[in-house]
Amino acid sequence: MDIQIDISNVIIDTPRLLLRSWRETDLNDFYEYASIDGVGEMAGWKHHESIEESKNILQTFISDKNIFALELKNNRKVIGSQGLHYSWANNEQKLRNLKTKEIGYVLSKAYWGQGLMPEAVNAVIKYCFTALDLDAVTAGHFIENNQSKRVIEKNGFTYFSQGEYFAKRLNKTFVENKYILYR
Ligand SMILES: CC(C)(COP(=O)(O)OP(=O)(O)OC[C@H]1O[C@@H](n2cnc3c(N)ncnc32)[C@H](O)[C@@H]1OP(=O)(O)O)[C@@H](O)C(=O)NCCC(=O)NCCS
Repeated sequence: MDIQIDISNVIIDTPRLLLRSWRETDLNDFYEYASIDGVGEMAGWKHHESIEESKNILQTFISDKNIFALELKNNRKVIGSQGLHYSWANNEQKLRNLKTKEIGYVLSKAYWGQGLMPEAVNAVIKYCFTALDLDAVTAGHFIENNQSKRVIEKNGFTYFSQGEYFAKRLNKTFVENKYILYR
């Protein structure tokens, strides 16, 4: 079961990060990491080729109200995003009555390998199970994306199934492993 969410006024505080809604003033930070070739491609989207492209996508983040900006406390830069999306669990007979969301995330390449995304995911999971009262959270990674697999494993998700995901913006089909974490 999908639910409508609005994170516009939500702030999640972790040891190193503030998770908050996106602002128009985040544009330069967003473009800085989203324009690096090979980052978005691991999540199914093409790196941004102009700041106008980033600006348009940033507007959808603000109006959709379901994507957190990850602000690093020690330099106040926005270094990634984390979204709560419609989950594939809604299409599974035995899961469709559960309240679920799918977690998706991207981190600036300059900050990989410091455990920042597992820290952010852990905090968002808590938010999902308390404030949003979800029954389960789902996540997935393309089979070649070991980095995302590690984030999912570190947060205690259980493997559920394998499927295919067509990434429209890359015109490419990926094999995806899907995971679930129950409350
Ligand atoms: C997936 C991602 C968010 C992980 O974030 P992170 O904060 O770096 O996560 P971690 O620090 O826990 O590192 C995860 C794994 O990445 C690998 N890794 C670490 N540093 C790395 C680096 N500099 N380069 C490549 N891989 C690295 C390690 O295998 C690590 O696992 P380990 O801790 O067991 O050694 C980040 O790699 C990313 O944004 N990737 C591109 C977008 C993407 O894949 N999104 C997910 C789509 S499903």
